Amino acid sequence: MKATRTPSPVLARTRGGLARGLAGVRRRGDSVAVVPTMGALHEGHTALIRRAGELADSVVVTIFVNPLQFGAGEDLDRYPRTLEADLRLCAEQRVALVWAPPAEVVYPTPPRVTVTAGELGTRLCGAARPGHFDGVLTVVAKLLHLTGPDVAVFGEKDAQQLTLVRRMVHDLDLPVHVVGVPTVRDPDGLAVSSRNRYLDADQRVAAAALSRALAAGAGAAADGPDAVRRAAGAVLGRATGVGVDYLALVDPDGLEDVPADHAGPALLAVAARVGPTRLIDNVTVSLAGPGPA
Ligand code: PAJ
Repeated sequence: MKATRTPSPVLARTRGGLARGLAGVRRRGDSVAVVPTMGALHEGHTALIRRAGELADSVVVTIFVNPLQFGAGEDLDRYPRTLEADLRLCAEQRVALVWAPPAEVVYPTPPRVTVTAGELGTRLCGAARPGHFDGVLTVVAKLLHLTGPDVAVFGEKDAQQLTLVRRMVHDLDLPVHVVGVPTVRDPDGLAVSSRNRYLDADQRVAAAALSRALAAGAGAAADGPDAVRRAAGAVLGRATGVGVDYLALVDPDGLEDVPADHAGPALLAVAARVGPTRLIDNVTVSLAGPGPA
């Protein structure tokens, strides 16, 4: 059988290389969608790249493990780095340009001026990871400035991140269209994540409780917010080896707990430790509000 050759994306590691790659794409008159990632690419990233390909002529993927968004004691040093496999995946997906800069290219000097997520960045994951979302927004702002895309694609898997990126783009008038992509899951329901590779076989089984809890919560939507929280909480309460950090039913924009009479969409979000690994997941549930008295 004849092997079919997949064209390799241009790989850039410097700012100059990125600028040249982008100029090549723009010279063709192509619109550009960017997919910011930290690498260790998996099916979740692939879904974003595919969506980006539907939205623009050329797709740019950035691969950068951003030190600014990791706290002390988090997994910055052991975060998986798999550039060769990432490039193969990008080639399969017909990505035009991959920017994979070293830290000193992104931060030639330690940044003294950064983007602040504000109060939204202190809720949910922000409570356990102070400064995390400031680091995320700072690097996303830089990546958007450096790549100048028409569209930027993010996963709903990181719902708080998506909310904050949308908010930053709105509040700072950044000239880009932000698009969210639904969470990609493994057959057992576990949301695909680069961090899943830290899980051993038992932890992997335990981790499936997160998505089961969210499904149970969503299944109770007809009975209102309290029932949603109770149903999800009951599943997590029964799970062994799962240390719940938070389980929250919040409004998707303000990330505040929804009241008992809430009508409309709400975000049911969970974060938990399975062994040393912190996992997050969420679903959107549709609440009907109080029925007729
Ligand atoms: P990373 O964790 O690599 O994720 C890159 C993008 O892939 C994010 O938008 C994330 O929400 C999305 N993603 C991850 N798993 C997914 C899944 N199972 N289904 C759908 N989308 C998924 O998120 C980051 O990197 C960083 O914070 C970044 C935005 C790159 C800034 O450093």
